[in-house]
Amino acid sequence: MTNSATAVAHANIALAKYWGKRDETLAIPATSSLSLTLDAFHATTTVTVGAEADAGTLDGRPMSEGELGRVSRFLDLVRERAGSTARATVTSESTVPTGAGLASSASGFAALAGAAAAAYGLDLDPRDLSRLARRGSGSAARSVFGGLVVWHGGTDDATSYAEPVPGGEAGGPLDPAMAVVVLDAGQKSVSSRVAMRRTVETSPFFPGWVESTEQDVRLMLDAVAAGDLAALGALAESNALRMHATMLGARPPVRYWTAHTVAVLDEVQALRAEGLPCWATIDAGPNVKVLCSGADLDVVATALARGTDGDEARRVVTARPGPDLRV
Ligand code: DP6
Repeated sequence: MTNSATAVAHANIALAKYWGKRDETLAIPATSSLSLTLDAFHATTTVTVGAEADAGTLDGRPMSEGELGRVSRFLDLVRERAGSTARATVTSESTVPTGAGLASSASGFAALAGAAAAAYGLDLDPRDLSRLARRGSGSAARSVFGGLVVWHGGTDDATSYAEPVPGGEAGGPLDPAMAVVVLDAGQKSVSSRVAMRRTVETSPFFPGWVESTEQDVRLMLDAVAAGDLAALGALAESNALRMHATMLGARPPVRYWTAHTVAVLDEVQALRAEGLPCWATIDAGPNVKVLCSGADLDVVATALARGTDGDEARRVVTARPGPDLRV
């Protein structure tokens, strides 16, 4: 007998970032974080229980040894809870370019958590699914939910989970949207996992980052409750710059920016000066995600697609709030 389940999860982009763990084994983050789940990128994952050994494909190719190892360790957590020793086959298709700082692990592990839990017969509520997804990749805890999402950092497995924040709906008072400026979809040099660890261990700025991010999350939740996109955007841009400042302080330093990244930051500043409200955020890669109102999304995307740096590879993808995980 085989049991099979398929889940779809959407990518999320943090407005207040998760950068650094207080517990690596349990994936307890050093801070809370806040994100927007996007409709433009998602992962679809099927888990079929009943195989000789764990096996998997990613976008139609066999998983590498490293990828399969990470998936297998995650399945072990599910098996342990389900009281099962059965191996499984995992197939995953993603519309997110892998390893380019576009949070492919977030949608990937959220979809894997949803599909694996169902295939192994675990009956988990969304909060428990978020806790489970967290063990695969921290940011995956947030991709269990649509719209705006807060991940309560917590202090242990029970208290570290994400939940939706009302007010993030498309067309609502805040109406958040994003223009994703894809500058280089190639593999990044240092994984966020390794870069985070190095930042925690060697950056003298890390304690300041932790303190100011907890405060940013509180201020951002206030901005969301007040329907104040300008306050939310300004906090998000500042928080992203602080995250990168923290990692620039590591030894050896971690720098994901390229000259093209800086060009987009200049362009966003110029658009604001022209009266078009938009704010930049950057993750573990060179790409820039630009937050704006849904009403301004097309104008912002068109302006950013033109670019000022002659980068022929530049591509802009528009995104609006995405849905909850679906199994
Ligand atoms: C810069 O969730 O990929 O995107 O927990 O080690 O798998 P692991 O890290 P991951 O890190 C995401 C880092 C970030 C910021 C964010 O999404 O909050």
